[in-house]
Amino acid sequence: MQYRKLGNCGLKLSELSFGSWVTFNKQVDARLAQRMFGLCFDAGVNFFDNAEGYEAGESEKVMGAALKALARPRDSYCVSSKVFFGATPRPMPTQMGLGRKHITEACHQAMQRLKVDYLDLYFCHRPDPDTPIGETVWAMHNLVAQGKVLYWGTSEWPAHLIIEAFEFAEKNHLVPPTMEQPQYNLLDRERFEVEYAPLFDRYGIGTTVWSPLASGALTGKYLNGIPAGSRASLEGYEWLKKHMVESDRGQARMNVVASLLPVAEELGTSLSRLAIAWCLLNPNVSTVILGASSVEQLADNLEAAGVLPLLTEAVQENLAALSPGAGE
Ligand SMILES: NC(=O)c1ccc[n+]([C@@H]2O[C@H](COP(=O)([O-])OP(=O)(O)OC[C@H]3O[C@@H](n4cnc5c(N)ncnc54)[C@H](OP(=O)(O)O)[C@@H]3O)[C@@H](O)[C@H]2O)c1
Repeated sequence: MQYRKLGNCGLKLSELSFGSWVTFNKQVDARLAQRMFGLCFDAGVNFFDNAEGYEAGESEKVMGAALKALARPRDSYCVSSKVFFGATPRPMPTQMGLGRKHITEACHQAMQRLKVDYLDLYFCHRPDPDTPIGETVWAMHNLVAQGKVLYWGTSEWPAHLIIEAFEFAEKNHLVPPTMEQPQYNLLDRERFEVEYAPLFDRYGIGTTVWSPLASGALTGKYLNGIPAGSRASLEGYEWLKKHMVESDRGQARMNVVASLLPVAEELGTSLSRLAIAWCLLNPNVSTVILGASSVEQLADNLEAAGVLPLLTEAVQENLAALSPGAGE
């Protein structure tokens, strides 16, 4: 496992990390999570991602129980949570958003569910148009000052708001955002490669990128329909099925996937490994958060960096020509 700096800060994360969206508490229980974390630790993974909004807080409970059972030294790995959506199916106005009250309470509740004394990384899961940015920055700064959060950041914020938060913090001598958590994969490049470009050199923002397989689309397994038990078949994720497959947009993306498949075959690897390795080529990626619903998938994905030597300049140019390019 290689380790990368989280932007300009002093933390080094494993280039492959592991997250729990959709899977934990739905497809993965605490016992299976424990096996998955064991595999991750053996491979050198040191970052596990979660959020208050995943399964209304239940995903954090599964992660907390599994990590506690494994009893690895707390200083050998990092845990995250995210605040914004709330941890109940129908949050009250004070139970969501990025105001001081919810940020403070959500942090305490996430620590309880995850069974940790502090969160290594804490993300504002989406921007909150109802809260002044300065209030959010102050609330995050206070959690850092109290030792409850080590690094705070954003997820899917427009670049201009990340810059506004950063500059507010600098001006007021507060701790600025360290990292952003954006989607990045062969089908979704635009925001990361174009909009976020100014964030890296000037502001030193690190990135923990999500959905390297576009929720499984980049395995190629949806090309002949929706496999039973797959993410797009799950109850409650009908919106995702439409987004991934059953829409003009989804079909256009499936055409791209079909065109990428022969590239992987020619290299003698799988499209999923190729797609994960491709994310690692970008030096502005600090860590790629893997998702998996089984030990077998996770074990396979953890081998992805082995594909990197096959990604010659010619292969990279081919992939760039086939994937919907930045600016398209
Ligand atoms: N900040 C945000 O807004 C945000 C949003 C989304 C995700 N995230 C984070 O990013 C993490 C990863 O995202 P993701 O789960 O969407 O990642 P992903 O890699 O795009 O998708 C993972 C899913 O693809 C399928 N899969 C994975 N490996 C496979 C393999 N080798 N063969 C066949 N199928 C395979 C599995 O679903 P099935 O087996 O069910 O088909 C698996 O759960 C999340 O857990 C979360 O921590 C953050």
